[in-house]
Amino acid sequence: MTRHLLRDDDLTPAEQAAVLDLAARMKADRFGYRPLAGPRSVAVLFDKQSLRTRFSFDVGIAELGGHPLVVDTQVTHFGRGETLADAGRVLSRYVAAIVLRTHGDDRIAEVAEAATVPVVNALTDGFHPCQLLADLLTVRERCGGTAGRTLAYVGDAANNLAHSYLLAGATAGMHVRVAGPDGFAPDPAVLSRAAEIAAGTGGSVRALTDPVAAVADADVVATDTWTSMGQEADGLDRITPFLPYQVGKELLGHAAPDAIVLHCLPAHRGEEITDEVLDGPQSAVFDQAENRLHAQKALLTFLLEAPPS
Ligand code: CP
Ligand code: NVA
Repeated sequence: MTRHLLRDDDLTPAEQAAVLDLAARMKADRFGYRPLAGPRSVAVLFDKQSLRTRFSFDVGIAELGGHPLVVDTQVTHFGRGETLADAGRVLSRYVAAIVLRTHGDDRIAEVAEAATVPVVNALTDGFHPCQLLADLLTVRERCGGTAGRTLAYVGDAANNLAHSYLLAGATAGMHVRVAGPDGFAPDPAVLSRAAEIAAGTGGSVRALTDPVAAVADADVVATDTWTSMGQEADGLDRITPFLPYQVGKELLGHAAPDAIVLHCLPAHRGEEITDEVLDGPQSAVFDQAENRLHAQKALLTFLLEAPPS
């Protein structure tokens, strides 16, 4: 059966741990392992803007010995009549895997249903599972592991990052608290799926509105933009209700004294996070950005080769 990564819970706890173990090994020996050697190509397609995802997949596929084909979808027939299913079928005849950043999760599901090669979610409106692999690698490095650690995500708790923190954090055995203003709570179906996963891993999940209660004694404090791609003109006030959720010195003061701060970037400095915190000693955001490269190399190896031992 073709394996895809459409949501964080497409990896079992053991598989997620194996991918992260491999990512750490690949990071320690960056150019020593080229499992895609040969003419194996990977399509990396973007319906939305990107810096980190675009470059980390491009560089990572090349470092694995493969051939990256990074394309903005407006230069293809996506969106002007060719169905996503047909595109998935055709690309499967050319490439070893399809990496796609798009809008609705229904769009990537349509590609995956038709594709005969692995499809990887490089961010949808619902989830950002590649980001979470990088974040968990960073938590392992900085906190000595993931199981039993508390992660607080504050800000837009209805967005893709919030959903991925719930699912991937629960899979990693973490205690995940997400907090956002009224009207910006996670999808109840995702929250209950995360609770089900946490019940099997020793983790836990909670959705709150109080940012201080969320951050209290946390080992990891994470945030993300208050306005995700595609939400710029949704008519909602995406500043005023979010002000109490800004990750500044005061809110961070409620976390564990040695807590680390994560942000997937790009940051809107002075909105969801202050310069002082982003550039301060507790910030792990640039390691986190680097870890996209290592985590995605490991993920592609897992999906395309025998699962790592
Ligand atoms: N974090 C992240 O996915 O960044 P890009 O939008 O730049 O790819
Ligand atoms: N939630 C953000 C993440 C960007 C990497 C967005 O979807 O725009």
